[in-house]
Amino acid sequence: MRIGIPKETLKGENRVAATPKTLVQLIKLGYEVVVETGAGAKSDLPDDAYVAAGGTIGTTQEVWGTDLILMVNEPTDDEISWLKPGATIIGFLAPRQNEALIGKLSKAGVTALSMDMVPRISRAQSMDALSSMANISGYRAVVEAVHVFGRFLGGQVTAAGKVLPANVFVVGTGVAGLAAIGAANSLGAVVKATDVRPETAEQVESMGAKIVFVAASEADQGVSSDGYAKETTDDFNARAAVMYAEQAVANDIIITTAAIPGRPSPKLITAEMVSTMTPGSVIVDLAAAGGGNCELTKPGVSYTTDNGVTIIGYTDLASRLPGQASQLYGTNLVNLLKLLTPEPNGEIELDFEDEIIRTSTITRSGEITYPPPPVQVSAAPAPAAAAPVITPVEEKKPLSWTAQTALIAVVSIAAIGVLSLAPLGFLTQMSTLVLSVVVGYYVVSNVNHALHTPLMSVTNAISGVIVVGALLQLADDSWPIRILATIAVLVASVNIFGGFTVTNRMLTMFRKA
Ligand code: NAI
Repeated sequence: MRIGIPKETLKGENRVAATPKTLVQLIKLGYEVVVETGAGAKSDLPDDAYVAAGGTIGTTQEVWGTDLILMVNEPTDDEISWLKPGATIIGFLAPRQNEALIGKLSKAGVTALSMDMVPRISRAQSMDALSSMANISGYRAVVEAVHVFGRFLGGQVTAAGKVLPANVFVVGTGVAGLAAIGAANSLGAVVKATDVRPETAEQVESMGAKIVFVAASEADQGVSSDGYAKETTDDFNARAAVMYAEQAVANDIIITTAAIPGRPSPKLITAEMVSTMTPGSVIVDLAAAGGGNCELTKPGVSYTTDNGVTIIGYTDLASRLPGQASQLYGTNLVNLLKLLTPEPNGEIELDFEDEIIRTSTITRSGEITYPPPPVQVSAAPAPAAAAPVITPVEEKKPLSWTAQTALIAVVSIAAIGVLSLAPLGFLTQMSTLVLSVVVGYYVVSNVNHALHTPLMSVTNAISGVIVVGALLQLADDSWPIRILATIAVLVASVNIFGGFTVTNRMLTMFRKA
């Protein structure tokens, strides 16, 4: 089969559906690839690079005459008319928002798979193009905000005076929100975030932000059975408005990403709240395409209000990082094609038993297959475990004061007796052991849990002492001692080398490539 990579025609679109790197992977799956002249130019990917990777460069008509079209946005009417009957087309086709397109693709007799229909299940993570793009958009939202914000994000102490860090508030902590938290945090801002799903708190804190919740009752927590947010109640919204009003005054930058699948964006930041923000503040509304989380957002536009607040409503944030977006999107497409091409023979197998393929397919050889059967997404929180049944245990009576004193006295006398009879060598070794246990206990219990593995792997090197001791014993006349010493050398060496290997592995995880 031949794959065609067209040049995107949507105004302002800078992405392309394949890069030279992903093209190599498509060829490995047995496909030939034709890239339209200049398709990658806006992502800084010249035609020569595609040719060097093994592809060919073709005209618009040549590309649209292939068997499988990989693209970013939905095709125009002209482009649909150029498709071969029986061809396959894959891209962001947004069937939920664009039913007319489904009809047109069906009439053209083609098979169409939509990347925004890939279900959010663990097995489909490598094909989840919506998450890839949301991740880029969250990062880019911070870059856009910083670009218009007139101050540093991080605090500094300079010769010219102390600079306080900027306060950033992120609304909605899905993929885009978490990426925005990560970017703002790495620039040194003090970041706070909110979400209606309580289970996001841990992720928010692990990204270095503080979670702010609306005081909610059990009844109105915004979790639905599939793990996505559900619509909130009027009572909840009233309490949320109080929290947003407080945050509007307290923050310099607000990044909103709140979305509920299939619903218009919830309006969270009102015009009145914007009027209380300090001049120079910035709002980046990622939900602009769905109407925006801020009442004053203008989709696709960045403007400054009368009180000096810049509101950015760009809907093409991923396309503003085109090289990165094309690479991640291209890789998501390759991963979907790996699923569609079980044998690397360049032929698609549309297996409807596979829920990823079934859910993503909106037309099959002209037959409309949208909407797909529902998929139970893995984002749902695990059901709370049933409360354990606690059987009352009969309380043991504590020893009386006299009994306790007698016991301590007996133990102390026994210990003094044993120690006074013990040889000096034993006493020295015993005190070393007791001191080591005490010091070890306090050192290990004061080290963060996350650092226990590197700590233990490095302390394994202490086994070097055992190796030295055992080596000295190897010269002993007694066979049993020599055998025990040999075993000690072997076991302690495994400990040392194993420890260093684990430490090295952990360090490479933190090393920048
Ligand atoms: P997501 O579904 O992973 O995250 C949305 C989050 O908002 C969820 O955690 C949800 O619980 C939360 N939420 C829903 N209602 C809320 C409310 N009333 N208050 C507080 N939190 C609420 O979605 P993802 O992938 O992170 O995308 C976020 C938004 O960014 C979407 O609207 C998406 O369309 C948009 N987006 C915009 C782009 C642009 O260029 N402007 C590009 C990519 C995504």
